[in-house]
Amino acid sequence: MARPRNDTFLRALLREPVEYTPVWLMRQAGRYLPEYCETRKRAGSFLQLCKTPSLACEVTLQPLARYDLDAAILFSDILTVPDAMGLGLYFADGEGPKFERPLRQEWEIRDLTAPNPNDQLRYVMDAVVEIRRALDNSVPLIGFSGSPFTLACYMVEGGGSDDFRTVKSMLYNRPDLLHHILDINATAVTDYLNAQIESGVQAVMLFDTWGGALSHRAYREFSLAYLQKVIAGLKKSHGGERVPSIVFTKGGGQWLEAIANIGCDAIGLDWTTDLADAKKRVGHKVALQGNMDPMALFASAEAIAAETRRVLDSYGGGSGHVFNLGHGISQFTPPANVSVMVDTVHRHSSGT
Ligand code: CP3
Repeated sequence: MARPRNDTFLRALLREPVEYTPVWLMRQAGRYLPEYCETRKRAGSFLQLCKTPSLACEVTLQPLARYDLDAAILFSDILTVPDAMGLGLYFADGEGPKFERPLRQEWEIRDLTAPNPNDQLRYVMDAVVEIRRALDNSVPLIGFSGSPFTLACYMVEGGGSDDFRTVKSMLYNRPDLLHHILDINATAVTDYLNAQIESGVQAVMLFDTWGGALSHRAYREFSLAYLQKVIAGLKKSHGGERVPSIVFTKGGGQWLEAIANIGCDAIGLDWTTDLADAKKRVGHKVALQGNMDPMALFASAEAIAAETRRVLDSYGGGSGHVFNLGHGISQFTPPANVSVMVDTVHRHSSGT
């Protein structure tokens, strides 16, 4: 299988030479785009949009039609995996994701099994195939999953949480039960990402959104160890091409050396970590992805361009950097502001 025509993103992840710094955005297909809102309305709901491959393909391509992005990301959600485990995912209006059957009782936890991705998550694999066909090798397609710990947070809490009281009570009271969930999640995530790779994704990203909420000691035991397990089980290439992996622990800036040692190809950074400092700490082990504050996109065009250049300069040029935001783009972002950022990344990093 040949690399895409624009493979700058893949080369940067592998720290091979690039002509300019590639850029994509977390949540690049989302509610800040009016065309996304229109397709979502047609689908009936966010979940229906995720579960209909032709519509998931349509929204995946929308940001690429507007902006000169160097990668596409599969349109889906990290919570489709616990949904496939039978927890009953739903989105209450304005309240974010919820589960009908959160994991609370020991017997429920003992009954948990990893889904077969080609069966219960067939719709994701079908979307990957359809998106690859539509992209026609123009830019690479990124697949993704939640990390075992971040998935466990939602599975045990039953939805989002401010303080992770339920899952952390389990962590301190019954670490054995949480480890059991994490073990099953690690298998589920590994199988799910390998199925995405076999269906055609060309890089994979693990979203450890809540790893940064753990104590220093607990992060290694309850999140990093399972990220390492997933990375160890991933297919490293497909069709003769390397499939690089990115690990993003939000709030994980203090653990970069440890993350760089688990075998991933790149680390995603939020905006609280300085790229120059991060680069010194990880050396040549991994590439770095990030890390502009998503709120900078609410400033004037001049201020957005200046902040974009500042982030690029903090990495300091050369390969091994993928420009991104430090977290998902806000639904209130004016779409025109994204063009300013994307065009500045390309212009400034190529010296034109
Ligand atoms: O980046 C992309 O464009 C790919 C699509 C993607 C979505 N969710 C679409 C989505 C990805 C990679 C995710 C990951 C995801 N989902 C994470 C990890 C990354 C992160 O943001 O920290 C998490 C924690 C979730 C769980 C989730 N899904 C939440 C908390 C929400 C509600 C958020 C909100 O702003 O209301 C979702 C819904 C969701 N996932 C939306 C999108 C575009 C908005 C849903 C809508 O259209 O109403």
